[in-house]
Amino acid sequence: MSQNDLDQTARDILIGNDQGGYTVPTKGLYPYQWNWDSVFVARGFATFNPDRAWREIELLFEGQWRDGMVPHILFRKDDPSYFPGPSVWGTDGGPIPSSGHSQPPVAATIVRDLLELDSSDAAAGRAKGLFPKILHWHRWYMQYRDPDGLGVVAVIHPWESGRDNLPDWDDALRAVEVKDVEPYVRKDTSHVDPEMRPHKEDYDRYLSIVAACRKVGWDPEKVARTCPFFVADPGITFILLRACRDLLALAGKLGLKEHMAEIEGWISRLESGAARLWNPDLKAHVALDLRTGKLTDGVSSASFLAPYAGLSGPDVLPAVQDHFDRIGSKVRYLMPSYDPDHPKFEHLRYWRGPVWAMVNFMISRGLSEAGDAVRAERLRADTAALIQSGGFAEYFSPETAVAAGGGSFSWTAAIWLAWATPSHAEQAA
Ligand code: DGY
Repeated sequence: MSQNDLDQTARDILIGNDQGGYTVPTKGLYPYQWNWDSVFVARGFATFNPDRAWREIELLFEGQWRDGMVPHILFRKDDPSYFPGPSVWGTDGGPIPSSGHSQPPVAATIVRDLLELDSSDAAAGRAKGLFPKILHWHRWYMQYRDPDGLGVVAVIHPWESGRDNLPDWDDALRAVEVKDVEPYVRKDTSHVDPEMRPHKEDYDRYLSIVAACRKVGWDPEKVARTCPFFVADPGITFILLRACRDLLALAGKLGLKEHMAEIEGWISRLESGAARLWNPDLKAHVALDLRTGKLTDGVSSASFLAPYAGLSGPDVLPAVQDHFDRIGSKVRYLMPSYDPDHPKFEHLRYWRGPVWAMVNFMISRGLSEAGDAVRAERLRADTAALIQSGGFAEYFSPETAVAAGGGSFSWTAAIWLAWATPSHAEQAA
């Protein structure tokens, strides 16, 4: 397919997955509004329909809970093709039925992008409308996912990280007792090859965590104290740190200076906390189980997000680049979600190896901002090559380029339009 055809197909995917203001990640497998999917989708819409881009994020924040949390799934209508649906979650925190935890907070970063792409008063008005909601969400993260002020952000469920079956979660997940889980039928494996999805023993524990949080009424303070899974995630920590910097810039631009000191406080706390995630043997940021104090032992794609978070000093950037080059000589397409030299790497199983376009977009952006244009471009070119050969799949094998997971996938289409397409590079030149 030609580049122009691919650009058009990407737009058609976003339009086809649009449910009237919000976009599903893909039909069948994910039939609702997902949090970080929607925000990346907004970045794609911004390339041809700015109004629709703002709308996507505004509709996501319609589901914000009273305590500030923005759920990872909004169940705007019941759809039997997905499990677990609203009755399993049993939440009551906001105006729209939803799951009970959040997902990576990319909204501030993308809202800042939208405003940079469109400097009209109307755009500034929409950013101003979103600002207090994003601020409330970040405050919720700082309060309830870093309750001891360590400067690292925990996830209470692998799904909250967005990187569901990452090997980093294995030990903490195995420690979760399988409990209070009604007999259930998975739907994901009827849409997608089971070899590309998490195992049943993972799902048993995913549901046990949901049951444990349901028992404490999803009260965020009780969840932080009692949830059987509480693991500091370099992905969320770095994405939030980056998002706080963008929120600070937004506050400056929109004349909302009264919030700047609070946001600056979060930035310094997260900057110093990042050191806790540093595995000195590996020379990389990894996950930290806050219940056991144990660091994980593998490099994941989130380890490469340190520069995206603005952490690119001489103690970090060269190590990130060394891992990049080592992994880059091992696989044909970067960035695998887990280290191919690690025994738990699986090139096609969801977050245990495959390449994800939106992660590449974030890593590349950080490297480019740190002055590393060559590695940043390798990520863009690899992402483009994967899409050119496999289409707009959910994820791809870093070894064979095989397209995997769901097809006609919204965020892959969005990332193509916003960054990976050669026409974007031509326009930027
Ligand atoms: C799923 O259902 O696999 C999702 O990733 C959960 O968010």
